Amino acid sequence: MKATAKAHTNIALIKYWGKRDEALILPTNNSLSVTLDGFYTTTTVSYKPELTKDTFTLNDEVVVGEQYNRVTNFLNKVRDIAGKQLYAEVKSINAVPTAAGFASSASGFAALAAAATKAIGLSLTESELSRLTRQGSGSACRSIFGGFAEWQKGEMEDGSDSFAVPVAPKDHWDIRVAAVVLNAKMKKLSSRSGMKRTVETSPFFKGWVESIPSDLEAIKQGILERDFHKVGEVAEANCLKMHATTLGANPPFTYWLDTTMSVMQTVQELRSTGVPAYFTIDAGPNVKVLYLPQDEEKVLETLRNISGVTDVRLSRVGQGIKYLEDEELV
Ligand code: PMV
Repeated sequence: MKATAKAHTNIALIKYWGKRDEALILPTNNSLSVTLDGFYTTTTVSYKPELTKDTFTLNDEVVVGEQYNRVTNFLNKVRDIAGKQLYAEVKSINAVPTAAGFASSASGFAALAAAATKAIGLSLTESELSRLTRQGSGSACRSIFGGFAEWQKGEMEDGSDSFAVPVAPKDHWDIRVAAVVLNAKMKKLSSRSGMKRTVETSPFFKGWVESIPSDLEAIKQGILERDFHKVGEVAEANCLKMHATTLGANPPFTYWLDTTMSVMQTVQELRSTGVPAYFTIDAGPNVKVLYLPQDEEKVLETLRNISGVTDVRLSRVGQGIKYLEDEELV
């Protein structure tokens, strides 16, 4: 009754921003992401009859409070599906530096869902696993797949048709992503609270939702044709649109810092010199830059020289869920 799984984080090129059902985590729009090989979580789940509650360690430290509750609530769903009332020991190792501004919840819940279901004896299809993972953290449902994946919002009230599907595999296209880490000391408004406030109060939210289908169609075509300019342009514009909705919220807010804008401007200047590079930003101040392998040196040098940038972490396109044997545990 033990299994280990590894999942990579993902970065959305078309953002998930807004829920239509808070409890089931059902989105108002489809989203599309690329899975990244540089940032991942490895999780071992062992069900043990002698346990009287679940235990959870992250990087060898015992986790309590809200983070623990999210894990144990998720395990309740797995127990319900399996019809088994066994508590589990959960051990996660995160290779997602929190400072890089990636939501480790994406790789975290994808790895947890895969390990917890396998260890309890369920054999789910990838769609079923994605649908279950969604209920731990929305964006995590895309991390079941490698390469490029689309989370289809679905129409059903019970969420049964809301899960991710593959768009193109890892080896389809070698694009790169640089995570630009800023010296940020801002108190973060969680994506959960930020999107809720936006849905409830921003007059721009309607426009955001209406603009998604054409962005999605364009980016999928760009990915399939390996048209970097098209993919970059659509992704950058979609990110700006998402962040614009937060300025219309009440009270208004933004995730950007002055250094966030410096990086954005530098990327656009770099592009005007003929180097194709595009940015995207999630619910935080750090910037992710998309570029092609031949421009790596130039992009890295430019990003590192921006004042306020503390680190730049590079990543390639990553793979989907992988189940590990004990001896592979690294
Ligand atoms: O799944 P969450 O609650 O971490 O929300 C993710 C929201 C964004 O990162 C801003 C966009 C996305 O699609 O990942």
